[in-house]
Order: sequence, then C-alpha cells, then structure tokens
Amino acid sequence: MTQISINGVQRQVDADPDTPLLWVLRDELQLTGTKYGCGAGLCGACTVHIDGQATRSCLTPVSAVGARKVTTIEAVDQGQSARVGQAVQAAWVKLDVAQCGYCQSGQIMSAVTLLSRNRKPTDADIDAAMGGNICRCATYVRIRAAIHEAAK
Ligand code: FES
Repeated sequence: MTQISINGVQRQVDADPDTPLLWVLRDELQLTGTKYGCGAGLCGACTVHIDGQATRSCLTPVSAVGARKVTTIEAVDQGQSARVGQAVQAAWVKLDVAQCGYCQSGQIMSAVTLLSRNRKPTDADIDAAMGGNICRCATYVRIRAAIHEAAK
C-alpha cells in the first residue's frame, strides 16, 4: 500500500511502486480528467501538479510522489491553486478554447503553474511554459489568448 495526498485527501493506493501516477489516478481513483496521450513524457496530456509544479504523471512512479501533494484537474479550482485555477478555467470557457478537448486538462494544469509564478506572462513566456503540451487540434492561439485573459 502507498499513501499519497490527492486533491487534499490522503488516499491509500494498492499499486506496484513502479506504476505511473497516471494509472493510479485513472484506474484506481477514477480521476479520469487526467489523460493518457503518449505515455512517454512527450505530449503533456497527463499533466498534474505535484506541490504546484506541472508534472507528467505518465513518467512519475507512484512511489516517487512521497509526501508531496498531487492536484489534478478535478481540484485545480480548489485549495492553494484556487484563485488562478478558477481564472484559467473561466478564461478557457470565455474564449471557447477547447476543440476536441482531449489535451485541455493538461493545458490548463500547465497554464496554472505558469500563472502562479508569473502573473503577467509575455507571449514568449507562454510559449516556453506551454511548449510541452501538444494540441492535435492546434488550439494554440486560443490557449495563448486565454492565458492573457486569465492574467487580467
Ligand atoms: Fe504523459 Fe504524453 S501521456 S506526456
């Protein structure tokens, strides 16, 4: 058994220590907002926060989480990230960012990490912070606009 803090709650999970956090979230805890894209750290669909830092859950063994706090898209509008999380989600809705939507939870998690550190990011800051989140529908222009909107 491994104990981890997920969205402010201590959870006991029965998973092999090498199991990627992504699969613990999706299969054991039914937190399916975190998506599987590539499984190799290349697409960003699986992005969650670990102690507020955008992190690829497909590359993070559950045993590596330790006492750090995991936040998923289901709770990005609560707790420590509440203010920024709510602003980002409102901007995403206002600017109708999503197309198919599959990558968008990962996009939002990365955007919240960016805005938590940098309240007024430039286009270059956004491109640097979001470069690891791939969108097959190419919603990048709306993502950038929504980050600026959330920063207002
Ligand atoms: Fe983790 Fe693609 S599924 S980066």
